[in-house]
Parts: sequence; C-alpha cells; structure tokens
Amino acid sequence: MRPTVAPFPTTRLRRTRRTPALRDLVRENTLTTGDLIWPIFIREGEGVEEPVPSMPGVVRRSVDLAVKAAEEAAALGIPAICLFPYTDPSLKTETCEEAWNPDNLSNRTIRAIKAAVPDIAVMTDIALDPYNANGHDGIVRDGIIVNDETVEALVKMALAQAECGADILGPSDMMDGRIGAMRAALEKAGHSDVTIMSYTAKYASAFYGPFRDAVGASGALKGDKKTYQMDPANSDEAIRLVERDLMEGADMIMVKPGMPYLDICRRVKDEFGVPTYAYQVSGEYAMLMAAAQNGWLDREKVMMESLMSFKRAGCDGILTYFAPEAARVLNAG
Ligand code: PBG
Repeated sequence: MRPTVAPFPTTRLRRTRRTPALRDLVRENTLTTGDLIWPIFIREGEGVEEPVPSMPGVVRRSVDLAVKAAEEAAALGIPAICLFPYTDPSLKTETCEEAWNPDNLSNRTIRAIKAAVPDIAVMTDIALDPYNANGHDGIVRDGIIVNDETVEALVKMALAQAECGADILGPSDMMDGRIGAMRAALEKAGHSDVTIMSYTAKYASAFYGPFRDAVGASGALKGDKKTYQMDPANSDEAIRLVERDLMEGADMIMVKPGMPYLDICRRVKDEFGVPTYAYQVSGEYAMLMAAAQNGWLDREKVMMESLMSFKRAGCDGILTYFAPEAARVLNAG
C-alpha cells in the first residue's frame, strides 16, 4: 500500500509543492459548499435577531428570519440547514410534551422553510433538552435518565417533524434503541423516505457549553450527561455504536464534537465506508472566534483549515456555524 520512496535526492518531495499549479494537481482533498450543513438557532417573535454572546457572529432568529437564512444558504450553495430552538422556559416541563407539539417553534419553522425554500434540506434535532425542565436529553425519574420511555417520546418527536416535511432527522439524545424505533415508526407512518443522521458517536463534552447558552439549557441542566453521552477516552465503543445504528436504519453517521475527535471520523469512514459527518460544535467555533477577535489567529484561514481537516479525516460533510462565511470564501474562489 505504501508507495516506495526513493532516497534523496532522487525523491525531493518539495518538487510538487513548488508552485500553486503543482499544489493544485497533487491536492488530495477538497472542500466545497456542498459539504456544509448550517446549524441555526430559532426563537419566537418577528423580525428578531438576538446575538448569542458566547458565539460571536451567531444569532437566534425568529421564524421569518430563519426563512431568510434558508434563502441565503440556498443562494450560497449550502445544501442543508439544521434547526435548534430556544424554547421559552414556561414551556419546559418534566414530561417534555412540547417536544412533539406539531405547532412548536421548531415544527413551525420546518414548515415555513419547506414552503419558501423547498430545495434546501431541513435537518432537525431530536432530543428532549430544549423542552425539559431539568435540561437533560431524556426523561428523568428519581434522578435517572430513563431510556425506553425517552425513546417513546423521541419517536413522537420524530413523527411530528417528518409530518412537517423535515428531510433529515437528527437524533442527538444517545438513548439506546432510538434509531430502530424511529425507523419502524417512520415506515409505518408512510415516511419511508425520510433520512436519519444519527448523532452516533456523541461524546460527553465540555465543548457544548456555548450551545447550551444559545438554546437556554445551561441554567436548567442538573448534573452532567455522562450516563448517555460517550466517555472521551473511548474509541472502540464508537465503532460498536456505528454498527448498531446502521443495523437499526441510520442513513448517515455523525461524530461530535469534531476537531478533538478526528481520529474517530477516520475510523468510522475506514471501517464502514458510510456517509460520515462531523459536528464542529459551539465550543470549537467559540474558541476560534475568540482567538481571532484578539488578533491571535487569522479567522478566515483557521476556519478554512479546520474545515479541510474534516475532509482529510474522511468526512463527507460538516455541521458548522461557519457555513455561510465558508461558503462565501469558497464561492469567491
Ligand atoms: C442536545 C444537543 C447539544 C448539541 C446539539 N444537540 C448539546 C448537548 O448535548 O448538551 C451541541 C451542539 C454544539 O455545541 O454546537 N441534544
């Protein structure tokens, strides 16, 4: 497999790096606008854009402006947009029924975007945390995050989203058995063409901090998510999870966070050869932006380099808050 390298000076690897033209010819990976999925935060209201302080440049948008964002994404060549709702605290309960309300913020936004920009793929989030009084992704009973009851709730959530026209369902909850349960329910309800991008290897990470601010879950969360999200020390376990999710009917596999877990992306791609995605999460975005704002890093360059690292690691696409900016850079050629 490894090509033979003749000894110096027969081989001088700098020869193919000498000019831009030669570097173009030997480039192994490419990043295109078609690789990008743009996560956006949504909120109630009209004509409202509210900054998220821990994510400079990122805002929470009302539904009408989320539609505008979808139009912008489509014009830039970004194939998919992913919705995360900031839920009014008064709607958060221990039973989380707002999660499958057909008229909740997220479902109204799916319908509005599909009506205005039918060609863009709308991806959703499936987990109870935006609707849960205690901030967890699952239903909590006596301090335990209960698996099977949570899966029943997630299935209702998935069906409501599919009904609104969602193209890609994104279960981010890490419960066991959820992909199989959703897939069976979708088939039964006539939604056999709806795709599932499973947050398969989702680690219990401190890099999600700014996201929890953005969706208003930081204050609510009691304890941590270590009984359902993965231990950052594990890699073989991710492979078992991927195999399990594929067997249960996932179409696409996600690794999350991104940059600290590029080794996992590579293993998933090599071992399964399936559509593989990374989520460059809020904390990754925040740290690059913070350094850029201090003048310590060149924002555009680190953005493009970080996105290319996912392609090099075998990913087919990246969820990134940089999506519109990266697309503008790519489109400018
Ligand atoms: C919640 C969810 C999280 C993210 C996406 N969906 C946070 C968490 O698990 O606490 C994180 C995204 C980011 O940090 O950008 N189910």
